[in-house]
Amino acid sequence: MVLLKTMSAKSKYTHHQHSGIAMPNNSNNRKVLLGEDEIPKEWYNILPDLPAPLPPPINPATREPVKPQDLERVFAKELIRQEVSQERWIPIPEEVREVYRLWRPTPLYRARRLEQYLKTPARIYYKFEGVSPPGSHKPNTAVAQAYYNMKEGIERLTTETGAGQWGSSLAFATMLFGLKCTVYMVRASYNQKPYRAILMRSWGAEIYPSPSNKTNFGRSLYEKDPNHPGSLGIAISEALEDAVTHDNTRYSLGSVLNHVLMHQTVQGLEAKRQMEMIDEYPDVVAGCVGGGSSFSGLFWPFYYDVYVSKKAPKKTKFVATEPTACPTMTKGIYTYDFGDTAKMTPLLPMYTLGSDFIPAPIHAGGLRYHGDAPTLCLLLKKGYIEPHAYNQVEVFEAASIFARTEGIVPAPEPSHTIKYVIDEALRCKRTGEEKVILFNLCGHGYFDLQAYLDYFEGRLQPFEYPEEEIRRSLERLKSELPWIDQLPYLKNL
Ligand SMILES: Cc1ncc(COP(=O)(O)O)c(C=O)c1O
Repeated sequence: MVLLKTMSAKSKYTHHQHSGIAMPNNSNNRKVLLGEDEIPKEWYNILPDLPAPLPPPINPATREPVKPQDLERVFAKELIRQEVSQERWIPIPEEVREVYRLWRPTPLYRARRLEQYLKTPARIYYKFEGVSPPGSHKPNTAVAQAYYNMKEGIERLTTETGAGQWGSSLAFATMLFGLKCTVYMVRASYNQKPYRAILMRSWGAEIYPSPSNKTNFGRSLYEKDPNHPGSLGIAISEALEDAVTHDNTRYSLGSVLNHVLMHQTVQGLEAKRQMEMIDEYPDVVAGCVGGGSSFSGLFWPFYYDVYVSKKAPKKTKFVATEPTACPTMTKGIYTYDFGDTAKMTPLLPMYTLGSDFIPAPIHAGGLRYHGDAPTLCLLLKKGYIEPHAYNQVEVFEAASIFARTEGIVPAPEPSHTIKYVIDEALRCKRTGEEKVILFNLCGHGYFDLQAYLDYFEGRLQPFEYPEEEIRRSLERLKSELPWIDQLPYLKNL
């Protein structure tokens, strides 16, 4: 029998003062729900709480740190303010919370059927962000970014998209605030996922496969090869060029930057409350990393408990997963590199495979970026994050197990984490440990069914990215900008 325990005066959970629905961790309940009034009122900003100052972005022309005002032609002013803010808590505007109500708070599920299938003593929980209209965590920041741009009188936003999750999220958010939206979609994904492009058009966005013939940079590649598969680095260059060459247009990024990751902390803040309601605390928090926004959004609030307020009951481990075809965290080199292929962005301090990296056309389009968020990279460098890489064949095997036990068909990106979670739960089976594992199911896979078909029919390749390629790409960067090694900011980290 399923016993839904609402918060009553007699409940053992009343001290938490929640209006949501709780379950004791030994009941048969599947999910923990919060009420709409429990959508967080502030985002958590990790910048003041990092273990070392975040190395600044560098302007390659001056070799000096970028000044916030240098970015005003590209981003809304409030987003630049948030990017460098040292305030720990940043209020979420009521208009943004109002839109969040369309799908937030998102459910926290206990993966009971997966646990039973694995016969593990571990307790597995997942925060499901696939309930948003675009189907992932990405609108948590898209809505905030569209809102601030609208407030500042901007009329159009440009962006890039890999898997199409980010592009659809920005198309959705701009529509809600009356802005226009132009999306450059990596051609390999555009061909693999035509329905994502149709979804963006349904919300009124214009969309071009990248490299396109709409920008000078795109044209230089498109004319040589109209079937060029593209990359996120190239699509970013196109979207940036479009933004800075048109009036009243700004650019919007779906990951990597501090403010983007901060907007995602609604996930971790909700998850913390949800776990509190069932008297649980995670031993492990795990997520996948493309640029690092979904994972950071989930783990930052737990990092705050463990390392800042020091109120966590456990020393929680933070685990990040990625593809072996794009192994930024496990094989990348920590240095300054450009965020895009045309070298239009500032130099960012990150683990990188080189900004001219063209990834194999794996199905996890959202994980095919050559670098990662500077905050995540600093934490990785300092030993706060444990990275794991998996190939797409083992990832889809894990995704299929999940679909056949939990019912939800997961997106390829979080399926990297599912692979880790299954391995960890099986380790617990061997050792008898009752670990509590929390992970981020940051998107559903209903637009990724071609990938599932390719897996079922044995067409997926277990790509590994060759290390010589990474070295070659970074040698090219260093011969172009030999002074990078002299920059003082990464020394002593
Ligand atoms: C479902 C999903 N998960 C994860 C990612 C990776 O991005 P990030 O690391 O910023 O969350 C993407 C990117 O498009 C995505 O669509």
